[in-house]
Amino acid sequence: MNNKHGTTKGETILLEVNSLETAFKIDGEYYNAVDNVSFKVKKGQVLGIVGESGCGKSVMSLSIMHLLPKGIGQIRNGEITFNGTRIDQLSEKDFNKVRGKDIAMIFQEPMTSLNPVFTIGYQLTEVLFNHMKISKEKARVEAVTLLKSVGISRPEKIVDEYPHQLSGGMRQRVMIAMAIACQPQLLIADEPTTALDVTVQAQILELLKNIQDRNDMSIILITHDLGVVAEMCDEVIVMYAGKIVERTNVEELFYNPKHPYTKLLMGSIPKMEEVVEKLASIEGIVPSLKNMPKVGCRFANRCPVATPECFEITPVLAEAEKGHEVACLLFETSKPKEGMIQS
Ligand SMILES: Nc1ncnc2c1ncn2[C@@H]1O[C@H](COP(=O)(O)OP(=O)(O)OP(=O)(O)O)[C@@H](O)[C@H]1O
Ligand SMILES: [Mg+2]
Repeated sequence: MNNKHGTTKGETILLEVNSLETAFKIDGEYYNAVDNVSFKVKKGQVLGIVGESGCGKSVMSLSIMHLLPKGIGQIRNGEITFNGTRIDQLSEKDFNKVRGKDIAMIFQEPMTSLNPVFTIGYQLTEVLFNHMKISKEKARVEAVTLLKSVGISRPEKIVDEYPHQLSGGMRQRVMIAMAIACQPQLLIADEPTTALDVTVQAQILELLKNIQDRNDMSIILITHDLGVVAEMCDEVIVMYAGKIVERTNVEELFYNPKHPYTKLLMGSIPKMEEVVEKLASIEGIVPSLKNMPKVGCRFANRCPVATPECFEITPVLAEAEKGHEVACLLFETSKPKEGMIQS
């Protein structure tokens, strides 16, 4: 099978998330922000995750990366397997060997992840020292090479500068350089270009695509931008209120969206070539964690085609067509079978 970038893609599963539930403690009680989510990322694949603000996209990435706020956020159920190893159960010490080396993450606002008091070179070489046996001199040379590889001109000068001396686009390039320093197999990019202006956005995406091709890296790309999805992704997951409501390959999603939520997000007549817009805004809001409906479809109160049963029966994410899963009672496959435990 070919991926979006024309290279042959194996079917090796790199990451598997199974029945993941991540909850936050609010007023002494736990509420699921990610609720029974399962998906796989194949080697060399770019998986897009879309959904409105507050749907659980970032919480899912933080769960994978062991970055949930301590004492507040907690994985309550499920498994996360990377290259056959249960990474959700690793101790912090053991996960530190994975983070940055095998799985790296870039965030929306690079200033929050770059340390303002250290030079770019210091921060880049720190990543290398953490995971490789490498001399100081070699690390500096490698840092310059990395900066060059992410399209930073005059890398010999930039390596000695501080984050505040760089533009937003350059800082994001530095973040990418740090993320790919150890050639991770998986990169999680959470809104990597949202804070940047349009031309810089396009350059950064092009850069990510090139690195992905070069290293046969897998990417989980979280974005509000459907143009980015069309451009970058092989498969897409649509999330609503902590759950996956639709999952399929990118062409199917644009030409044949099934869930009313997906259709609304895309505007009424989505056409892949024309998609340059951000997610359309839908009337109403995503329920807060404390106000999540206990039964029924979580989107029902905003759904233009909801029927009374949508408020009573919780749909199951299931294959409505080959390779196309949806959780909506409009589809027979989403109706829970007798005796099935609902969640
Ligand atoms: N530290 C926290 N404490 C309590 N609730 C939280 C915390 N972080 C996130 N949440 C809640 O978890 C839910 C999912 O949030 P998340 O940040 O994953 O959304 P998102 O899909 O990434 O949104 P955005 O597109 O705005 O980044 C939201 O209801 C949010 O309010
Ligand atoms: Mg987020």
